[in-house]
Amino acid sequence: MYDVLIERGLLSAVGAKSAEVLSPGRTMVVTDEHVAPLYADTVLTSLHRAGFDPALTVLPAGESTKCGTQYIALLEKMAEAGLTRSDCVIALGGGVIGDLVGFAAATYLRGIAVVQIPTTLLAAVDSSVGGKTAIDLAAGKNLVGAFHRPVRVLCDPDTLATLPPEQLAAGMAESIKYGVLFDQSLFDLLAHGAPQDLTETISRCVALKQAVVSRDFTDRGERQLLNLGHTFGHAIEACSHYRILHGEAVAIGMRMAARAAVLLGVAELDCTDAITDALTAAGLPTRAEFTAAELTAAALHDKKRMGDTLKLVLPVEIGHCALHPFPVDRLGELMEEVCR
Ligand code: NAD
Ligand code: GLY
Repeated sequence: MYDVLIERGLLSAVGAKSAEVLSPGRTMVVTDEHVAPLYADTVLTSLHRAGFDPALTVLPAGESTKCGTQYIALLEKMAEAGLTRSDCVIALGGGVIGDLVGFAAATYLRGIAVVQIPTTLLAAVDSSVGGKTAIDLAAGKNLVGAFHRPVRVLCDPDTLATLPPEQLAAGMAESIKYGVLFDQSLFDLLAHGAPQDLTETISRCVALKQAVVSRDFTDRGERQLLNLGHTFGHAIEACSHYRILHGEAVAIGMRMAARAAVLLGVAELDCTDAITDALTAAGLPTRAEFTAAELTAAALHDKKRMGDTLKLVLPVEIGHCALHPFPVDRLGELMEEVCR
């Protein structure tokens, strides 16, 4: 298991904290064009101070960077920089950088070390932890990937101060998700909007995620609970041609899942209003602008990959969700109901 260190001001100690788990040597910090001017200097200075010899690669920002072309280009840069099996890469950024750099690390020389430094709330509470790495294909998101644990996750909540409000809100959707899934008191903490200091929120979400991942690293069972809001959310993202942010789509998808739980008799308590209110307080949308037919078509686009049965994640009550097998050929009917 690896440590996830969460501490305000940690960015200037990245070198020392990396040297605790790696022998200082050649390394490459990979980030995007928004994050580089804000935080790359602090990270590079800290790495130099700890005896590392860091190169810097800056990629375009946005989901389109998680593609085959950028992946191969990054591998070429890692090779040109002379990274060996005992060296590491450092992913400094949101989930896009984390997933791409993680996948490059998983495959370069059949696997080298990666340190994750999340700088979005979404990456801090979710994508930097758990070892899922991926790139997208034209046919869909995250279709190529690997499970590859980071050697350490270094999270400095102070970096979240520069996040655009819609990105903070998107991260709140994933944070509220952990409350709905596992912890009523975390849900209550987040129910009135984002706390000023997000350190506690991140620590609690990460602890909940790590517990699940430690029991089901390869996503065969219980880890699928973490997809709460994602079945509907992925359809919303696809219908919007990825204009709607992942976290925003998950927010809308969680409300739909709460409605589905009531309709399918899985809910012991109807959580739809509580979830809708918490998401609204975080500045998130809760209703899709697409028809049930459009959303069903988008969801069924993946039919070959999903088989005849979907596993819906449905809230039983706040703090407890269930995996509910559901026939794919009844998705259209359900979508009509949950879109109301
Ligand atoms: P992102 O990486 O695109 O970051 C969002 C935006 O914020 C970008 O424009 C980025 O440049 C900017 N940014 C990042 N940090 C900043 C900062 N501190 N200050 C100012 N701007 C900053 O998006 P994201 O929401 O972090 O991640 C989404 C990705 O994560 C998706 O590709 C999704 O599939 C993936 N994901 C992966 C997992 C996993 O388990 N691996 C889990 C959830 C999501
Ligand atoms: N974000 C879902 C997972 O890590 O499994």
